Amino acid sequence: MITAPEQMMTSRLILRKPVRGDAGDIFSSYAQDPEVTRFLMQRSDGSLREVEQFLDRTLANWETASAYAWAMLLRANGALIGMIEARVDAYMVNISYVIGRAHWNNGFATEAVRALCAWTDAQPEVFRVWAVCAVDNPASARVLEKAGMTREGILRRWAVFPNIDGTPRDCYSYSLVRNSSTRSVHQAVL
Ligand SMILES: CC(C)(COP(=O)(O)OP(=O)(O)OC[C@H]1O[C@@H](n2cnc3c(N)ncnc32)[C@H](O)[C@@H]1OP(=O)(O)O)[C@@H](O)C(=O)NCCC(=O)NCCS
Repeated sequence: MITAPEQMMTSRLILRKPVRGDAGDIFSSYAQDPEVTRFLMQRSDGSLREVEQFLDRTLANWETASAYAWAMLLRANGALIGMIEARVDAYMVNISYVIGRAHWNNGFATEAVRALCAWTDAQPEVFRVWAVCAVDNPASARVLEKAGMTREGILRRWAVFPNIDGTPRDCYSYSLVRNSSTRSVHQAVL
């Protein structure tokens, strides 16, 4: 079983285990914004109730060690600006993230992904860290590239983004893998 820290720090961010009381901040930061939820893989009706249900699932996942999500807070003022999640599947960790639109293009998602990769790198059981993004989501692809991941190819008709439509879309697959000839999945990036 892979365990995760409840809090991680980066130069500008605090990543911490969410609490149910974060629902209002998540709602106002991004969950009610269709431009942000467009490329999420869970359906969003933009309601506070839905955010609460999401947090209930997220906290249950922490208990079963099946997925770990962290709220992203600015160290400067404590504002909640997004969320990042690591889903654990044996030796693989799949990551996903979201940032409120007011904070896009400041490098925050990249900073959080790097922190997650540093954590997974310290877990000897993890051999593959990976993420997918829709081919028409260039900002997300760029985050994964800046974090040092390698684009493996296109997974055709891979994922449904229910806030766009019900049709599976082509996605890029990105990964960092633990190489037998190097100590680290991540050493080139930090
Ligand atoms: C994807 C997302 C998390 C990026 O967060 P962010 O904090 O803005 O990311 P960063 O600032 O670290 O990096 C964004 C990069 O994408 C680039 N970018 C943004 N929009 C772009 C576009 N339309 N085309 C090409 N590049 C774009 C930025 O210029 C930046 O690259 P740069 O540093 O080389 O200039 C954010 O846009 C988001 O939450 N989107 C909605 C949810 C989502 O798509 N989540 C990912 C699901 S796979």
